[in-house]
Amino acid sequence: MKFDPAKLPVHVAFIMDGNGRWATARGLDRREGHRKGVKTMFSVVGSAFKIGVKYVTVYAFSTENWNRPKKEVDELMRLFHRYFTTRLSKLTSKGIKVNVIGSTKGLSDTILSDIRDLSRVETGKVNGVLNIALNYGGRDEIIEAVNAAIKNGKEVDEKSFSDMLFTSGCPDPDLIVRTGGEKRLSNFLLYQAAYAELYFTDTLWPDFDTEELYGILSDYSNRNRKFGKV
Ligand code: IPE
Ligand code: IPE
Ligand code: MG
Repeated sequence: MKFDPAKLPVHVAFIMDGNGRWATARGLDRREGHRKGVKTMFSVVGSAFKIGVKYVTVYAFSTENWNRPKKEVDELMRLFHRYFTTRLSKLTSKGIKVNVIGSTKGLSDTILSDIRDLSRVETGKVNGVLNIALNYGGRDEIIEAVNAAIKNGKEVDEKSFSDMLFTSGCPDPDLIVRTGGEKRLSNFLLYQAAYAELYFTDTLWPDFDTEELYGILSDYSNRNRKFGKV
């Protein structure tokens, strides 16, 4: 499929929701849904870059997701460790820079070391950027930035404040897609989402695919982004 590059979002963010319900509907443990969800993530993210999207952000684990049963949290952390140390190299070898964004608080030494290793990967020419929001909360991010600004003792403006967020250097998301049917942001990119186009689909994340992504990009290309103007 071809898209007019001028009408393609530069930055697409995904709230990958519905893994648990996908598994439950099949009589499976919720953890199976997360395993399938990882596969979907690699496939959809790969397609987004292939079509020409430059920045992709995926919401993988929120600061509130710690309140889930331990066995589910443990499995999610195991999956992160696994793909941080294996599958992501397929993307970085193609010039995709991977940033893990979020708080370090509460993460294990293993995951923290994976994140450090990922930040050191040399990609050469950068063809795209993948932000993985892990232990991410929009309020937490804003509060950390405010505290850093207070420490600096300098007033901030919109530009300098943006640069203090985890997404520093990334343009704001043009399009935020949430799967799983819920119509809320759940603490995702609260500051950055100011003028993002929102798209909600009932499809559960493990069932989401490239074809649906193309349909959403086509819908996006017909939207009239006004940014407050007439
Ligand atoms: C999204 O799927 C993945 C994470 C939040 C880690 P859910 O696990 O929230 O799936 P549902 O919403 O319970 O179906
Ligand atoms: C949002 O999904 C977080 C991620 C997709 C990682 P949740 O399933 O945690 O959101 P709520 O609880 O339905 O708002
Ligand atoms: Mg959910």
